Amino acid sequence: MANPDVRRLFFALWPDETVRSTLVDLQKRLPPGMGRLVSGDNLHITLVFLGATPIERQHCIEEGLAGVDRPGFSLRLDQMGYWRKPQVLWVGSAATPLPLTALVQDLRDIAGRCGCEVETRPFQIHLTLCRKVHKPPRELPAIAAIPWPANSFALVESITAADGVRYKVLRTWGLPSGAAGSASG
Ligand code: 2AM
Repeated sequence: MANPDVRRLFFALWPDETVRSTLVDLQKRLPPGMGRLVSGDNLHITLVFLGATPIERQHCIEEGLAGVDRPGFSLRLDQMGYWRKPQVLWVGSAATPLPLTALVQDLRDIAGRCGCEVETRPFQIHLTLCRKVHKPPRELPAIAAIPWPANSFALVESITAADGVRYKVLRTWGLPSGAAGSASG
C-alpha cells in the first residue's frame, strides 16, 4: 500500500480555464496517430519535478518558498516540439521570460537544499499534449500563439489510480503583477 507520508510531487504552472480550453482545442486538431492525449484536466507546464517526497521534505520546501519573491510574467506558447526519447509531443515557447528562469532556479535551489535530486539541464518550457507518440508527424504543425498570463504557480501531487494518473493541486503561490517579464532564449 502507498505510504501516505510520501507523495509524488512537482511544481507547475497551471492553466486558467481559457488557456486550458484553447489547449484542448489544439489537441483536437492534431493529426491522427498522436499517441495518447493528456486529459484536459491534467494539462500543465512542469517547472520542477520533485518525485517521491516525504512529508518532512515537503515541509522543508514549503518553508523555503516563504523567501521567494518573483514577479508574474506573460508566456506565449508558440511552437510545437517532439522529444523522441520520452515520446512526447508538446507545445512550448521560443522565448523564456527571465522571471520564469529565475523562479525555476529558486525552486531547484530550494528543492536541492531539502534533499531532492533536481534537474540540472537548462529549463525549457514545454507542455505535454500527447504521450506515447511512437512516430512524430512529418512536419510539426504551426500554431497560433497562445497567450498565458502567469500570475501563480502550484505544488501538485501526481496520483496514480486504476483509471490513470490524476494531478491534484495542493497549494498555489501568487506571482505579483507589475512586471510583464522580458524574454530571453
Ligand atoms: P512532462 O512535464 O513532460 O509532462 C508529473 O509526472 C509531471 O512531471 C509530468 O508532467 C512529467 O513530464 C514531469 N516530469 C519531469 N521529470 C519527470 C520524471 N523524471 N519522472 C516523471 N515525471 C517527470
